[in-house]
Amino acid sequence: MIKKPIVAANWKMHKTPQEGIHFISELNNLLLDKEKPSIIFCPPFTSLFHMNEMISDLDISLGAQNVYFENEGAFTGEISINMLKSCGVQYVIIGHSERRHIFNESNKDANKKLHNVLENEIIPILCIGEKLEDRKSNNTSKVLMEQLKDGLAGINKDMMDRIIIAYEPVWAIGTGVNALPDQVEESHAMIRKILLELYDNNLNNNIPILYGGSVKPDNSEDLINTKGVDGFLIGGASLNLEMFSKIIEIVHNKFMR
Ligand code: PGA
Repeated sequence: MIKKPIVAANWKMHKTPQEGIHFISELNNLLLDKEKPSIIFCPPFTSLFHMNEMISDLDISLGAQNVYFENEGAFTGEISINMLKSCGVQYVIIGHSERRHIFNESNKDANKKLHNVLENEIIPILCIGEKLEDRKSNNTSKVLMEQLKDGLAGINKDMMDRIIIAYEPVWAIGTGVNALPDQVEESHAMIRKILLELYDNNLNNNIPILYGGSVKPDNSEDLINTKGVDGFLIGGASLNLEMFSKIIEIVHNKFMR
């Protein structure tokens, strides 16, 4: 059976709740009654509650862009997994490169969040990817290995059945320069190999691996046709109705052929 592809929108710090609702209703009009991939919207925290009310009748899921690893307490400015769940969140992005590089989050932080999310029956989208200097110095596989080994510490095989990985090379995020299909294929194969190594080959080999980094309508056909790509995590192009709906259509066509 063909796995249903995933198209996830990472809105980052864009769109008010009103703008988010408007976007979803317009998208829904465009896609009405059409078969589509699994679509996950990850808006800012402030939009989750209202967007959840809006999508309950639509075939769209909701994700958060971050979470704190403690369940409650004196952690000013943080959001717990229960708060997210009460807003209908089913997915949480963990370890996005902007969290790692702007907010100094480590693999250890990502690991604590991953445990918390999985223990609460929510699906994490764990982001990993190398910086340009890592790629130039041939350290891509070393970096991916470190991010996976430390990020997944203590996560057992059963929990791995409920995880999504997003390969997002840092140099491709928001730059307009996507990784080339060959580079994506190679990195996705590396990730699968590392996962099998970490779990002594005792792992469901169907873990979805998304590609993210400057996905646009004009490169999405080549990228979705790349071996090992199970969908996309999309930033910039997910803010634009025309671009995002076009990508959804391209992804859908590839998997329905
Ligand atoms: P981009 O962002 O599509 O704007 O490159 C991707 C991401 O940050 O997840």
